[in-house]
Amino acid sequence: MAYFDHNATTPVTSDVLAAMLPTLTEACGNPSSIHRHGQRARQMVEAARRQVADRLGCSPKEIVFTSGGTEANNLALSFPARHIVTSAIEHPAVALTLDRREQVTVVAPDTRGLITPEALRAALRSDTDLVSIMHANNEFGTVQPLAELAAAAHECGALFHSDGVQAPGRMAVDVATLGVDLYSVSGHKMYAPKGTGALYVRKGVELAPQLFGGRHEGGRRAGTENVPGIVALGAAAARPLRDTAALRDELEAGILAAVPGAVVQGAGAPRLPNTSNIRFAGLEGEALVIALDLRGFAVSSGAACSSGAVEPSPALLAIGLTKTEAKSCIRFSLGESNSREEVVALIAAVAAAVAHLRKLSPTYV
Ligand SMILES: Cc1ncc(COP(=O)(O)O)c(C=O)c1O
Repeated sequence: MAYFDHNATTPVTSDVLAAMLPTLTEACGNPSSIHRHGQRARQMVEAARRQVADRLGCSPKEIVFTSGGTEANNLALSFPARHIVTSAIEHPAVALTLDRREQVTVVAPDTRGLITPEALRAALRSDTDLVSIMHANNEFGTVQPLAELAAAAHECGALFHSDGVQAPGRMAVDVATLGVDLYSVSGHKMYAPKGTGALYVRKGVELAPQLFGGRHEGGRRAGTENVPGIVALGAAAARPLRDTAALRDELEAGILAAVPGAVVQGAGAPRLPNTSNIRFAGLEGEALVIALDLRGFAVSSGAACSSGAVEPSPALLAIGLTKTEAKSCIRFSLGESNSREEVVALIAAVAAAVAHLRKLSPTYV
């Protein structure tokens, strides 16, 4: 089975697993214990904090470990803001969290999935205290001009949060250069296990904790640290990036050449080097996912977190697709294990499966 769904989740690599395994057995101490086992666990947690901080270009003190991207987003958005600005292409971990707030303005992207600084500026108000715009979109991979967006937010005195879940496993990220105040990370999108993540909190930014209990993570997140997950996240953060842009481009060009009427979403915008979202008129994305699964390829239609839902992806609707168009999109997301042979075979499988499904389609002419 060739796996092309790395934006849904990534496998844990052997080096990350090797770093993590001792924490499940002999290095099993509680980092809050003062005996040797506890001290060792504490050292491992703090080493991982440095690794994550180095990956993001910040100080270890500015890293709060969480149970994943969802919790990191929830913690960031706990900031007591009067008015919040966000975008229409956020993951539900941001969008649904903000649904519970009263004063929220949602900015529409352009058709490539980009939020322009002008569009953001138009939404900012004198009482805007927080802006939350994702770094890279999980469905079509558009990378936002975060430095410009953060500068626009700061001009009006607002803090800037970014859901960075899809970015650090695929591209260099430097929170200082980007100028963000809060940045969410998830382990399982960058070769660490599920259920681990982090929030970068710029020095001086005060958040309202979401979990109460012990004074873990500097009083910002109670609960005994997930030492295995944290150590794995640190090891994952320390790995060199493998650029998948050439393979992704080959996949995209091959599919566009082999399948009449295939259209890439987000084309023309800066995109993650591993993501390609392609629309195949005349068929349902879910049918193509199943057809490709039977041919040995794992891909996705829309966001994995909402799969099973019959509703089309809100992010695809937000970039201007009709419901029918949004339902005919497939996301291919590459990872470091994908080979050229797999890409060549996937192109052939997509061409054959689309031709077959279109033949059965009552609407495709
Ligand atoms: C953009 C984005 N944000 C947040 C999340 C949620 O992260 P986690 O699964 O670690 O809670 C995801 C996961 O799909 C995502 O793609």
